[in-house]
Amino acid sequence: MSISKKKIIHYLSTTSKGEINKLFSKANALTEKLYQNKIHFRGIIEFSNICEKNCCYCGLRKDLKIDRYQMTKEDILKCAKFCSDMGYGSIVLQSGELTTDKRLEFLINIISTIKKKYNLGMTLSLGELPKESLKELFKAGGHRYLLRIETSNEKLYKKLHPNDKNHSFQNRLNALENLKSLGYQVGTGVMIGLPFQTYEDLANDILFFKDFDVDMLGMGPYVPHPKTPLYKSPPILKDNFTLSLKMVALSRLVLKDVNIAATTALQVFDKQGREKALLAGANILMPIVTPTDLRKNYLIYPDKPCVEDTKEKCFNCITGRLKSIKKEMGQNNWGDSKHFYRRTKK
Ligand code: 5AD
Ligand code: SF4
Repeated sequence: MSISKKKIIHYLSTTSKGEINKLFSKANALTEKLYQNKIHFRGIIEFSNICEKNCCYCGLRKDLKIDRYQMTKEDILKCAKFCSDMGYGSIVLQSGELTTDKRLEFLINIISTIKKKYNLGMTLSLGELPKESLKELFKAGGHRYLLRIETSNEKLYKKLHPNDKNHSFQNRLNALENLKSLGYQVGTGVMIGLPFQTYEDLANDILFFKDFDVDMLGMGPYVPHPKTPLYKSPPILKDNFTLSLKMVALSRLVLKDVNIAATTALQVFDKQGREKALLAGANILMPIVTPTDLRKNYLIYPDKPCVEDTKEKCFNCITGRLKSIKKEMGQNNWGDSKHFYRRTKK
C-alpha cells in the first residue's frame, strides 16, 4: 500500500476513533504477517550519563548539574549476563555523547568482551561519533546503531539545539550516512509533539525515513523538561501520545519490514503505552537493565517509568504485559531488521 503525504497528514490529524482504530489494526496485521506475535527484546544498559552536548530538550544536557556516572566494565558485563540468561538475545549500549579516546578504548574492550562471552546482538546508541570511531566499534562487534534525527526539518532542528557547529543538522545527517556506509543496521527516529512541530513536519519525517531507507525506528513523545531551555516554548500539537501511536502505525505501513520500538517514553502518558504501540505496528521492546541506583541519574525527561525498579522486576512486568496482549518474546534471537537484509541483499 502506498500512502500519499496528504493521506499521512490526514491520519495524523484525524480525531475519528473509528479511523484511528482501523489504522492501528491495519498496522498490527502487517506486523503479525511479518513477525507473527514475536516481540524482540533489547536490554538497554544506560552505562553513562556524561554528555558533551547541550540539546535544549534533554535532562542530560551538559549545562545541567546532575550526578554524572560511568559504569565499570564489571557492572556492564553483569547486565549483559542478565540479558543473556533471560534470553533477551540483544542489548543496547546507550550513553550521552563523549568523543574521547579513553571512552573509545573502553567501549572497544566492552563490546568485544560481550561479543566473545555472550554473543548477544549489539545495538549502540552513543551519539554522533567520528567515522573512524564508528568503524572501530563496528569491528569490535557493534552491528546496529541508533541515532535519532530528532526532526527532519532543519529549521526546527536549529530551534531545538544551540547554534554552534557541535549541534549542526548536517553533522547529524553525515553521521547517519557514515553508519550506513560502514555496514551498520541503521536506526533513527524523532520526537513527537515538539514545540513548533506541525503535522506536515511529522509526515515529512516518515518520508525522510523512507528516503533514507532506514532499518530501525525508535520514536517517542516529547516530554517537556522544566530544567531545560525548550520548556518555555509550549508545543502546538495536542495529544502527543495518540500522535506517537499514529506515527508508529503509519511508519509500519509506509516502511513495512523495519524494526520499530515501543519506546519507554510512551509510558509517561499512558500506563499501557508500550503495549498499545505493540498493537499499532511496533515489534521491539527495550527493557531497562541499568542498575536501579543509577536510574534516577538517567532522566532524559521527567516522570520516566521504571526508575525505582530492578532489572528482574522489569523482566516480569514486561513479560506479563506481553501476555496480556497475546504476544511473546522472540527468545535468544538477535531479531535483526529484515529490511537490512533486503536492503543489502545478504
Ligand atoms: N522528551 C522525550 N525524549 C527526549 N529525548 C531527549 N530529551 C527528551 C525529552 N525531553 C530523546 C531524544 C534522544 C534520546 C536519547 O532521548 O530523542 O535522541
Ligand atoms: Fe546529550 Fe543525547 Fe541528551 Fe543531546 S539528547 S544532551 S546528545 S544525551
